[in-house]
Amino acid sequence: MPIPPQVIVAGCVCLDVIPGWPAGAAVADILPGKLIEMGPVSVATGGAVSNTGLALHRLGVPVQLVGKVGDDPFGRMILEAFERQGPGLADGMVVAPGEATSYSVVINPPGVDRSFLHCPGANHTFVADDVPYDRVADPAMRLFHFGYPPIMRRTFANDGEQLERMFARVGEFGVTTSLDMCGFDPASPAGQVDWPRLLARVLPAVDLFLPSLDETLQMFHPGGAETGDMNVIRSLADRLLAMGAAVVGFKLGDQGLYVRTTADANRLAAAGKAFVGVKLDAWLNRELAAPCFEVEVAGTTGAGDCTIAGFLAGLLAGLSPEETATAATAVGACSVEQPDATSGVPHWSAVRKRVESGWRRRAGISHGGMQC
Ligand SMILES: Nc1ncnc2c1ncn2[C@@H]1O[C@H](COP(=O)(O)OP(=O)(O)OP(=O)(O)O)[C@@H](O)[C@H]1O
Ligand SMILES: [Mg+2]
Repeated sequence: MPIPPQVIVAGCVCLDVIPGWPAGAAVADILPGKLIEMGPVSVATGGAVSNTGLALHRLGVPVQLVGKVGDDPFGRMILEAFERQGPGLADGMVVAPGEATSYSVVINPPGVDRSFLHCPGANHTFVADDVPYDRVADPAMRLFHFGYPPIMRRTFANDGEQLERMFARVGEFGVTTSLDMCGFDPASPAGQVDWPRLLARVLPAVDLFLPSLDETLQMFHPGGAETGDMNVIRSLADRLLAMGAAVVGFKLGDQGLYVRTTADANRLAAAGKAFVGVKLDAWLNRELAAPCFEVEVAGTTGAGDCTIAGFLAGLLAGLSPEETATAATAVGACSVEQPDATSGVPHWSAVRKRVESGWRRRAGISHGGMQC
């Protein structure tokens, strides 16, 4: 009998279409009326649903994917790709008739920075009612993770009304809630949002808030005035905890992961089923930094999402915050060893074995406290 899913990963999903550049072709060759002969295309699923969801699946955590696609060829390709990874993985996906599946054409010529031609499609219409609450209600379900509101228009409209409704409803089932963000174009509608006000509304219903530091700075200091020194990191984390989250984790790129947890025992006790089986005292009022593991970097696409997958898997396995943050950066490091998002992620037991076998860490950010 299949193991019932313990985690739902919901939110942004898209199809990356990556034309292959033959040697000698250059982006400057793209001129009106000109034909450029290209190599074969590669196609990959992307977004939080694909990256964090498939990373959890590869780790061996039973997961259900919930994203919204159109009733079109790209939508069918996404559903088929998920089904190929694991039968039933795509059963919770929403197919919206008449809507377009989100896609990015990745213009990736040799020697030049990548550019994207991006269609947000059905991600922009995702609302609280797109979540299959009957699946959230399953007794086996323990955790609900969502990413990325800044590129999902309905989720940030009205100061996050839909997000608040969705997380509150999920929380009613005692399921732990988790949220990831992403960077956004300041000139887009997301740039008009008062993100601190939105987060103050949404975070009381979010147990784990796991953005990257860069995107948090973009939300709180849109002018780019602040850099990520430890005082800024700590005060941002404390502000987010005061808004209502139980655990705040900032991904710090090649500096690793920073974690700060609530000092309020009642808030932690209310953080849902992912915390059943963990020693709650060990998670109370903690601050720690986990440096990156040493790897040969093949590509950082999806590294943040895989880091989250490692964090969620560690928590679900009942680990301490130190072990959980360590597992998070370990899974993140496995991800960067391959150019794509998730194919470098092995089974959970292999990640643990590699950590236990003395895998070297890089020098990480120091906060004068616990380094793990
Ligand atoms: N050079 C590296 N070596 C090992 N691990 C890394 C390296 N770079 C990043 N990581 C891991 O990946 C995570 C990615 O952090 P980052 O701040 O880039 O998140 P992000 O911006 O959300 O990433 P993403 O682009 O995947 O959304 C880090 O926390 C770390 O665990
Ligand atoms: Mg990210």
